[in-house]
Amino acid sequence: MRDEWGEVTSDQTQDPIRIAVTGENDYEIVVGRGLLAAGDPVRAALGERVNKVLIVHTATVGRLADELRTELQQHYGQVLLAEVPDAEHAKRVEVAAFCWRILGESDFTRSDAVIGLGGGAVTDLAGFVAATWLRGVRLIQIPTTVLGMVDAAVGGKTGINTAEGKNLVGAFYAPHAVICDIDLLRTLPKNEILAGFAEVAKYGFIAEPEILDTIERDVDRATDPTTPEFQRLVELSIRVKARVVSEDFREGGLREILNYGHTLGHAIEHAERYQWRHGVAISIGMMYAAELGRMAGSLSDAAVERHRSVLSALGLPLGYPAGRWPGLLATMQRDKKARAGMLRFIVLDDIAKPRVLAGVDESVLQFAYQEIAA
Ligand code: GLY
Repeated sequence: MRDEWGEVTSDQTQDPIRIAVTGENDYEIVVGRGLLAAGDPVRAALGERVNKVLIVHTATVGRLADELRTELQQHYGQVLLAEVPDAEHAKRVEVAAFCWRILGESDFTRSDAVIGLGGGAVTDLAGFVAATWLRGVRLIQIPTTVLGMVDAAVGGKTGINTAEGKNLVGAFYAPHAVICDIDLLRTLPKNEILAGFAEVAKYGFIAEPEILDTIERDVDRATDPTTPEFQRLVELSIRVKARVVSEDFREGGLREILNYGHTLGHAIEHAERYQWRHGVAISIGMMYAAELGRMAGSLSDAAVERHRSVLSALGLPLGYPAGRWPGLLATMQRDKKARAGMLRFIVLDDIAKPRVLAGVDESVLQFAYQEIAA
């Protein structure tokens, strides 16, 4: 089978798939099944020179972290665990300081390594710790959620939140490898998988229609982690992200397309005090971006309808209350100021034809919102 980028792909019975990311540092994303149980892919990623390893993880994956430590202990001088809080609570400077303390007390040198094992927040934190300790030690990301695999752990955005806002402190720091073991997703709750699929659908809308076709054909198989379809969708998503970040690591241009649905989506996450899963807010944001693409651009009715049918097949929300518009707009404006930019949206001219839309009249923004107002 050949995909759009001309690379041979495989099904779950074959060897792991290796997706190359190029740029300031080249690395590989390994996608397959049973990778952690086999142990070898992690050791291969760590390399020969590493002596000490710190595994940063949450309690949710505590058993997995223990097993990984037991396996690695046979090969490395010292393997330590740092259990950190779940979700955004992990991304605090106090938690980073806790990890730095462990590294300091155990005399970690530049030839040692940090492993991030968990969801997107943990890999963001582990990446930041690895980027800052001695100005950068080896980093292996092992995401354990759909969102982590298709987005957070790939592409080298690392960081923490502060009182001033989310992700305002961080570094672009490429991992040395990302290991995506699909089997780790088998035990995830269905709503967690579906929320992660908002990002999978995003790659479908911005770049890879095969993703949309697969979800439309059989959404149950598409979202069942035991099927080849599921693995293929994760692989296709990672390929899009890998291609984009290889071309534009520091978000000078192309990488911005990954923010499809995120301008409004981030404002909704803020309005919901970050209690919503990221993908749930992004689903509404993409529906909004589709309406905006229709009003301020050239997106067809059929393409907007395709957004509606794919996202609703995934059980994701499509709208938000009408009365919340002023608050959302104010948040988007504040965010824009904090980042010294213009209010920008990614819209589509067609499926897989994304572009930036900036400087749109507020009345048009509001009109588009009326279309998704619940
Ligand atoms: N999550 C968007 C990016 O990595 O650029």
